[in-house]
Amino acid sequence: MWVACLHEGNVHQHRDGIREVIDYVLSTKNCYAFACGDIGDAILHTDKRWERKGQKETSILQQYNSITDLFMPIKNRMLGAISGNHDWKLNGFGDCVEGVFCSRLEIPYGTVACKLIVSDPKGKLQYKAFIHHPFTGQINSNHPDPLMREAAETSQAKRKLCDQRMGDCVLNISAHFHKGRIAKPFQDLYLVDDGKAIKQKYHREANPQAEYIPEDLRWYATLPGFVKKHLMGLSGYVERSGYKPVELGAIRSFTVAGKITHMDKKLV
Ligand SMILES: [Fe+2]
Repeated sequence: MWVACLHEGNVHQHRDGIREVIDYVLSTKNCYAFACGDIGDAILHTDKRWERKGQKETSILQQYNSITDLFMPIKNRMLGAISGNHDWKLNGFGDCVEGVFCSRLEIPYGTVACKLIVSDPKGKLQYKAFIHHPFTGQINSNHPDPLMREAAETSQAKRKLCDQRMGDCVLNISAHFHKGRIAKPFQDLYLVDDGKAIKQKYHREANPQAEYIPEDLRWYATLPGFVKKHLMGLSGYVERSGYKPVELGAIRSFTVAGKITHMDKKLV
């Protein structure tokens, strides 16, 4: 389960949704989670995006501790965490993702971009994942047809992750966009001859342990987040900026015998 953009401290956070994902991880056999940045909202009181009303915990340390408390029941199901641009804003004062979230959950800290190397119980490589929280950019389309918007945004998401050039990662994950988009491997056809006639062939699925996996044979996903647009009586920065409301939730990847078989969205 790929979880991102929790934005603890933002009063528009969908806390029940985070709880639902945590409960799902806890109650599902062989289910593990990775936190992919923007764990805290980390917006200072002097920032124009600050939302005064509805704030209960204004201490940054309190916020990182309270989101850590929420994840404590699944600490043994957590594979790691990275920082996002929101967390990083306060990095000059100390790293709360590393020093509070990862330290208290006793999980690896992957800075802002990392690789997760998945091995079988005997230590043999199964596959590698690249996990990233870019600080800038967006994936967006204003095409009038939702099918075209979805396709354009998925293609943009894939391109951004391709450009990271992680040649040996069959799975590539990016947070930050608050949009769940999944690009499956695409097994295109090609033509060859056998000396007598032209034959049509199809790309086989990737060997996930290969040193180089062709771009079109990898899996890619960008992640939704947990920030709602409207709350009665409040106007958070999502509302004030006029950003589109977005799907809330996480992305699941399913693995059987070291092979990714399926990915989907778990919306909350
Ligand atoms: Fe972000």
